[in-house]
Amino acid sequence: MRVVLAYSGGLDTSVILKLLQERLGAEVITVTVDVGQEDDFGEIEEKAYRLGAKAHYTIDAKEEFARDYVFKAVMMNALYDGGYPLSTALARPLIAEKVAQVAKKEGADAVAHGCTGKGNDQIRFDLAFKALLPGVKILAPVREWGLNREWEAQYAAKHGIPVKSKAYSIDENLWGRSVEGGAIEDISLEPPEEIFAWTVSPAKAPNEPLYLEVEFSAGAPEKVNGEKMGPVEMIRYLNKVAGAHGVGRVDMIENRTVGLKSREIYEVPAATVLIAAHKDLERLTLTKRSMDFKEAVDAEWAKLVYQGLWFEPLREALEAFAYRLEARVSGSVRLKLFKGSVSVVGRSSPYGLYDFDLISYFKSSFDQRLAIGFVELFGLQAVASYRKRP
Ligand code: ARG
Repeated sequence: MRVVLAYSGGLDTSVILKLLQERLGAEVITVTVDVGQEDDFGEIEEKAYRLGAKAHYTIDAKEEFARDYVFKAVMMNALYDGGYPLSTALARPLIAEKVAQVAKKEGADAVAHGCTGKGNDQIRFDLAFKALLPGVKILAPVREWGLNREWEAQYAAKHGIPVKSKAYSIDENLWGRSVEGGAIEDISLEPPEEIFAWTVSPAKAPNEPLYLEVEFSAGAPEKVNGEKMGPVEMIRYLNKVAGAHGVGRVDMIENRTVGLKSREIYEVPAATVLIAAHKDLERLTLTKRSMDFKEAVDAEWAKLVYQGLWFEPLREALEAFAYRLEARVSGSVRLKLFKGSVSVVGRSSPYGLYDFDLISYFKSSFDQRLAIGFVELFGLQAVASYRKRP
């Protein structure tokens, strides 16, 4: 049996790499997809071969992730349950696609992943594989063989699998860092400072605010402080500067797709900045009706992605709706980052619907007499019904 394994180099997938050979006599091919996590990919490859991989692939998918997934999420203001910018969730279908390509090329009988039976990631991988690789078996040893971290650690020690001792489960990519488990499982307590790696504590952030100017073209960020940047470069830059001001910490009780509530801590500096800026620009350029409707569309999109339904046709249909509106979401937004907070302090757009001449308290061309009849008709039914209330 030939198995292609989505391999991160961590404890779960390293143990699985060995177990697949030991228990199933499988020939295992490993695939590590670079979505911007700060790992040593040479070291991961070496580890894979040391643990018996027949072949190993490292696939650089950073640009594709940033352009086709992350920037789409910005256009959709994607925040699951209003708070989680979907960093982990967004990367899964792309990782699965890259693994599926290798599986096809290698003529694999099965693909394998290291997800547990408790989380969302199993759904994201399973459904992506089912969509992309009909007829190919999916192996999820952690779930199927009931593995747990304690057993895995012992097995790793016995088989000389090197592991960095980790108190937390961490997932990282360009768009964010997710931390789960360990001390933060006590939801009544403030998370210890040691879990953070991308953000400084807001209390220790600089006493001077940082101003940033982000320029969008048709819903996609293009320049920061007047400088054109590619998607990967821009996200990295914003993670760095916003993180240094304590921006982007999220502590969330989350509704997992499997029904469990969990607590996750996220570090998402670039996401916090870009979504705040993008939303503000929509506020300026979209009509009230469009904005209200899009808010519902955005929430539905985020839920689909979170729940692993990337291949559900509704996802693309919702994007098509958004693309139609976003043509006018161009312009620039000025933000102020200060001790963990980000606020929009200025904006401008050639498509802006804010009309200084109409709204101003100073001399204005707005004909106030028009309002008299408007108010009358606007409230006609409400007033009549109030007067005739039972
Ligand atoms: N709760 C997040 C999600 O479902 C992140 C999951 C991975 N987190 C982790 N710390 N391993 O998308």
